[in-house]
Amino acid sequence: MTIKLNIKTDSMKLSKILALAAIAIPLAVSATKPHKSALLQYDKQIDGIISQMTLEEKVNMLHAKHMFVSAGVERLGIADMRYADGPFGVREEMQPNGWMPLNWEKDKATFFPTGSALAATWSPELAYSYGTGMARETRLRGKDMILGPAINIQRIPTGGRTYEYLSEDPFLSSQLAVGYTKGAQDNGVAVCLKHFALNNQENNRGTVNVIVGERAMREIYLPPFRAAVEEADAFGAMSAYNKVNGWWCAENDILLNKILRDEWGFAGMVISDWGGTHSTVHSIKNGLNVEMPDKKYFGQALLDSVKAGIVSEEIINLRVREILRVRLAIKPIPENEANTEMTSQPAQQKIAYEVASKSIVLLKNEDVLPLQLKNKPVIAVIGANATQIMGSGGMGAGVKTLYEITPLEGLKNRIGDKAEIIFAQGYDPVVFSFADMFRKKTPEEIEKQTQEKKVIAEKLTKEALEVAAKANIILFIGGNNRAVETEGSDRKDIFLPSGQDELIRKIAAVNPNIVTVLTSGAPNDLNVVKQVSKALLISWFNGTEGGNALADVLVGNISPSGRLPFTLPAKLEDSPAYALGNFPQGGKNADVFANLVAETEAVEKPKEEAAKSDDPNTAYYSEESLVGYRWFDTKNLPVMYPFGYGLTYTTFKYTKLKIDKKTYGKNDVIAVSVILKNTGKVAAEEVAQVYVHRINPSVEWPEKELKAFTRVPLNPGETKTVTLEIPVKNLQYWNEKKQAWDDDLCNIELQIGSSAGEMKLKKQIALK
Ligand code: BGC
Repeated sequence: MTIKLNIKTDSMKLSKILALAAIAIPLAVSATKPHKSALLQYDKQIDGIISQMTLEEKVNMLHAKHMFVSAGVERLGIADMRYADGPFGVREEMQPNGWMPLNWEKDKATFFPTGSALAATWSPELAYSYGTGMARETRLRGKDMILGPAINIQRIPTGGRTYEYLSEDPFLSSQLAVGYTKGAQDNGVAVCLKHFALNNQENNRGTVNVIVGERAMREIYLPPFRAAVEEADAFGAMSAYNKVNGWWCAENDILLNKILRDEWGFAGMVISDWGGTHSTVHSIKNGLNVEMPDKKYFGQALLDSVKAGIVSEEIINLRVREILRVRLAIKPIPENEANTEMTSQPAQQKIAYEVASKSIVLLKNEDVLPLQLKNKPVIAVIGANATQIMGSGGMGAGVKTLYEITPLEGLKNRIGDKAEIIFAQGYDPVVFSFADMFRKKTPEEIEKQTQEKKVIAEKLTKEALEVAAKANIILFIGGNNRAVETEGSDRKDIFLPSGQDELIRKIAAVNPNIVTVLTSGAPNDLNVVKQVSKALLISWFNGTEGGNALADVLVGNISPSGRLPFTLPAKLEDSPAYALGNFPQGGKNADVFANLVAETEAVEKPKEEAAKSDDPNTAYYSEESLVGYRWFDTKNLPVMYPFGYGLTYTTFKYTKLKIDKKTYGKNDVIAVSVILKNTGKVAAEEVAQVYVHRINPSVEWPEKELKAFTRVPLNPGETKTVTLEIPVKNLQYWNEKKQAWDDDLCNIELQIGSSAGEMKLKKQIALK
């Protein structure tokens, strides 16, 4: 029997004490050998460069030159480092010292499906293509480093950047982070893994102190970063805005020096998140290379600190060396060769299509999909998300895209005159407004706006019901948008915004033939739409080609093949951080830009004070490793749809699960094979998932954990034997006492299935 984690849902006291204790324990370096970065080959050459540099020239490399540039050394032929915001499209060109766009024509980029969409493909190969595509466009724009991939774990369903991040699962996130990183760096661009680390919430992100136990940190939150460093040799990382166990990430010796560099062998550069540097001496010593986008701490103050003998020149040399390694590995693009053609190119648009077409998740289908077009039906497309552009919005991570096919356009492209398409907007989408964010409305203004919204909603509902009454089938296209899911703030709940539940209920009363498509990047409450829809899909913020991909799935040109990268909870309150009440929100300083947030009292308070549970600036990760499905499975809680779930237009059969041995040693690799058959009538792709359940462990574990997966294309009737490998090393846990990875050699059950909720076959083996 698996030993349950000792988490008390009614009292967080113990966990808090344990977590706080972690602050005081100095972390040692694990015994495993760090990986050897290719960047180290430049060290000899760098010795020569550094020996010719003045102290001023060195310090000049350690802070921003412009908003997205840090300096090289012109005199020595060392080019500036140019950064491009990602992670899902190269950001438009902005004024050197501000956020105002330059309004160029040629900087229109390909909008790639956002993080959760990429993750829904469960395809490291597609992540590689994605990285390739991002890199090619970054090069066209003359930049050296792409600020992505964004690979924090989706801890809370409401997280403002859930759509940018990949998954709630560290293994899935790691595989995709490696793919993206290799794809980008093989094509001449350095990645910048962000946000290192534990930036799992946007509310108070510039002030929050994450109190996390070491085991959860190592096993859940750090693996994607570690994999991208060890397996893909990532050249860059961005320190996060928040604190981890009492230290700002930009000056966190444990994260930046001990773990990232000493333990994993990261040889590249760490830049701060924009405005996320808080000190001079600690930051430079503890591992930060570049302060972005200012020089408040790493300008004159750093120079003075060296001159005063507080910071040694060796430290400065080391930080400069780490930047130079990346600079020498990435070929700078001469200014006259950059921006000569349009950023978005057909080859990348094709990648965006491929990712989108394999990301769409079919959750329910009562024989209404694919759409039957034989008798030229009337299709009512209802919902503002059918026509909304999702490339830009919600502050950073916006893409000024060359084009974006909306769902309605995609349907028209693919259906042509085979059906009559009629459209109604249905609801008034949430609009992002800077003005509203910084200015409080008067009660009169709020009342006036509420009344206006009511009138608009009534009008839109009336139109929608008229359109619904005329149709053979309704495609309700709703969900969130880029104003709802945004950097800088988390959602208050996961309900569909703009009264969509109420609207769809009314539509169902007029015409129950409803297919619902949600274009959201994060979980929604599906209680109403699931009940009133005959089919239900998630189509994400799916990029430049998103509408075409969706239409191809709806009309059956391709089978849906995306799988959920996160659990869809039955209700928000069931999810771990909500059930335990350990997601601190609100307070005076629910911040938008970290650098606009004033230092608050709580930040300055001593730790004992800050430990009070009502402190909005301290997040106690008392659920420990029980994030996402690990929580729901271990607590035996029902979910709306489980992690890894997704239907196709066919059925698959799993038979003959074979394991090559009965007993495995700690250096062995478990080979799991299974025969997969497409038992339906159309071609489709199955994502076979292997989970590990510990039968008689010596330490606590979640009920089960994803340890291998593969995407398998199968024609109707086709059979394939697939083999998945699990190195026993990947089953280790972080032993807090030993401060090292350790084996828990026990009997385990290998469970293979199509989601965390449905195991098809199981087999026991022994680890010895
Ligand atoms: C975000 C980063 C982004 C940076 C530069 C920050 O607010 O957190 O992800 O790369 O801004 O735009």
